[in-house]
Amino acid sequence: MKVSEYAKHLLLAPTLEDKLLPPSRPWEEETDFTPIRMERPGRSPKLQFSDKKVKIPRLEHLNLVSNRGLSLHHFANHELMAIELFAWALLAFPSAPKSVRNGFLKTIEEEQTHLKLYLHRMREFGVDFGDLPLNYIFWKQLGQFGSLESFAAVMSVSFEGANLDYAQIYAQVFSYYGDHTTSEIMLTIFEDEIKHVKRGLRAFEHSIPENKNQWEHYLSLIKFPFTPRRAKGYLYLPETRILAGMDPDLIQSIGNYEDEYTGRVNLESVKKFGLGETILRKNRLDSHLPSP
Ligand SMILES: [Fe+2]
Ligand SMILES: [Fe+2]
Repeated sequence: MKVSEYAKHLLLAPTLEDKLLPPSRPWEEETDFTPIRMERPGRSPKLQFSDKKVKIPRLEHLNLVSNRGLSLHHFANHELMAIELFAWALLAFPSAPKSVRNGFLKTIEEEQTHLKLYLHRMREFGVDFGDLPLNYIFWKQLGQFGSLESFAAVMSVSFEGANLDYAQIYAQVFSYYGDHTTSEIMLTIFEDEIKHVKRGLRAFEHSIPENKNQWEHYLSLIKFPFTPRRAKGYLYLPETRILAGMDPDLIQSIGNYEDEYTGRVNLESVKKFGLGETILRKNRLDSHLPSP
């Protein structure tokens, strides 16, 4: 199979099973390098995009198993969109360096693992994928993906960057409630997402013009109303960006960015769960947290 055929399969085949087909190496040589920009993915009726707003449960309510299921459903949707959009990028940027394209394939494989982890765990919580409306927040950014660099700025530096904060926050909160299984899942995903942000930074960094710093370059690649707010969780954990090898000035500039949504972090829950006091790493879960 060619990489482009595989990417088309992930984008157009309708079921979850199809989207979870792992990459099969070695690949046949590509012969056609015409960029293809698909407008939307193929999705079975249960997986259609929805504009209905669904509130994600508050951290304080994750003592309830049903709320854990709803949260994981939300995260699983991000993984599905990531699989599709990295496949989208393989088709849209056929002439990207081989290392970048191989990185996309590796990322797809890991996003598939994340999706499977969430699907399995949320079923244990009584929630099936598609039971709730599926937003299409990543797909809405299509108009920004004019170049490989802008794709990396939006998908990796921003969304996957913010996911480093969220994976930490949820790992800590699930652990607080004694749900170490789900906490471990969050940390497995956290470790992979560090690599994804790294890959994105590589695609983004090599194109920085001489007269611009990384922050200016990043700003030039994203389009309003998308703002750097998307590059962080409601609690920003800069240490996680250091792990991803992000430039220290860029880390700081993202941290300094403010708009009307700034300051919404619930300090009570930050205190209650000890959020951000320590960065948890895989298999080092219990060493730093206060017991519930
Ligand atoms: Fe992921
Ligand atoms: Fe990712």
